Amino acid sequence: MAVPSPRTPVVAMVGGGQLARMTHQAAIALGQNLRVLVTAADEPAAQVSPNVVIGSHTELDDLRRVASGATVLTFDHEHVPTELLEKLVAEGVNVAPPPQALVHAQDKLVMRQRLEALGAPVPRYTGIDNLDRLGELDAFAAGLDAPGDAGLVVKAVRGGYDGRGVRMARDLAQARDIAREYLEGGVPVLVEERVQLRRELSALVARSPFGQGAAWPVVETVQRDGICVQVIAPAPDLPDDVAAAAQQLALRLAAELGVVGVLAVELFETVEGGLLINELAMRPHNSGHWTMDGSKTSQFEQHLRAVLDYPLGDTEVTVPVTVMANVLGAAEAPAMSVDERLHHLFARMPDARVHLYGKAERPGRKVGHINFLGADPAALPQLRERAELAAHWLAHGQWADGWDAHS
Ligand SMILES: Nc1ncnc2c1ncn2[C@@H]1O[C@H](COP(=O)(O)OP(=O)(O)O)[C@@H](O)[C@H]1O
Ligand SMILES: [Mg+2]
Repeated sequence: MAVPSPRTPVVAMVGGGQLARMTHQAAIALGQNLRVLVTAADEPAAQVSPNVVIGSHTELDDLRRVASGATVLTFDHEHVPTELLEKLVAEGVNVAPPPQALVHAQDKLVMRQRLEALGAPVPRYTGIDNLDRLGELDAFAAGLDAPGDAGLVVKAVRGGYDGRGVRMARDLAQARDIAREYLEGGVPVLVEERVQLRRELSALVARSPFGQGAAWPVVETVQRDGICVQVIAPAPDLPDDVAAAAQQLALRLAAELGVVGVLAVELFETVEGGLLINELAMRPHNSGHWTMDGSKTSQFEQHLRAVLDYPLGDTEVTVPVTVMANVLGAAEAPAMSVDERLHHLFARMPDARVHLYGKAERPGRKVGHINFLGADPAALPQLRERAELAAHWLAHGQWADGWDAHS
């Protein structure tokens, strides 16, 4: 394996998934070398960075190895135990975001409590940390406007992603059963009202230690089965004042929590038009993948600039509208090679901006994304349809509209 020049400054990242892979891509242009801590040599970022540490993100020594000599240690996921990060900080490692900020992206209950204390709007919720307190669920449900009618949502407080760890309950009895199941496994839960959604939005910002903040336009995130399938940037028909308020809120939270790097604020737009904060992520986020092509500064470069305490980049859009579609592994991986699928995709849609992660195809797994840039906001429905067709084609090797290249 190639050895990076000792003169090249190193940024260390815990995790070697697609976020690390795309951060590596941005690091190249900034003259930085991204060293990644991965559990296996075939992870997406380990395939492309020459600077790989194989180990576990729950082992202090492995974390020390990846951080050694690096300017800063940052993350592609939020699963490093807080105690370990605090030890690293005590040893002089520059951890970004710092553990006292990151905990709000790791623990959904800590996050909710802090947001509430900061006066930020959140769904009504209760936290239950042991079986003895399961009865408190009844009092919580009784306090809702229409107890049980809209259903409840039960979430594992830690460790979930892409809807894993989030369970929808149709009524109180089912919520109790799900909560009991988690609690018996030693997993504390957050139980909350099921919000009547108009749609989901995301406010993505970055903050540097110097205190500079930068916000991208607020986007709409389209979810299917708890997984994001499409992102529309900017969010269509979002009133300017609401968008500006969401950006201000995200920037304020980044400052109040002491975030360093990218912060994604996942938002619910309720049927009444109000905004509630669902959760926070402190790293490049799926809702920001559109920035690779649709913004003057990608979220990956911005994350690096922020953790390196450089001045932040311009978050202007490059086109009036960008649609990002996730490529999610098909139930059965197609016989046609990815190479051939790509060939056909580009033959039909030369403007597709493809980003593949080098991951094995598994059902529902995010294996890549495609950005489509639109010059005309009025053509958004067509742009979305093309994005959907392209992502489906790359995953399934079938054109959902029956298109045949040979006819
Ligand atoms: N209280 C809620 N009301 C309605 N839908 C919800 C609620 N909480 C979560 N969801 C749905 O589940 C998805 C995943 O939940 P989230 O808390 O963001 O978990 P994850 O950590 O897996 O992203 C959300 O994007 C949303 O579609
Ligand atoms: Mg989420």
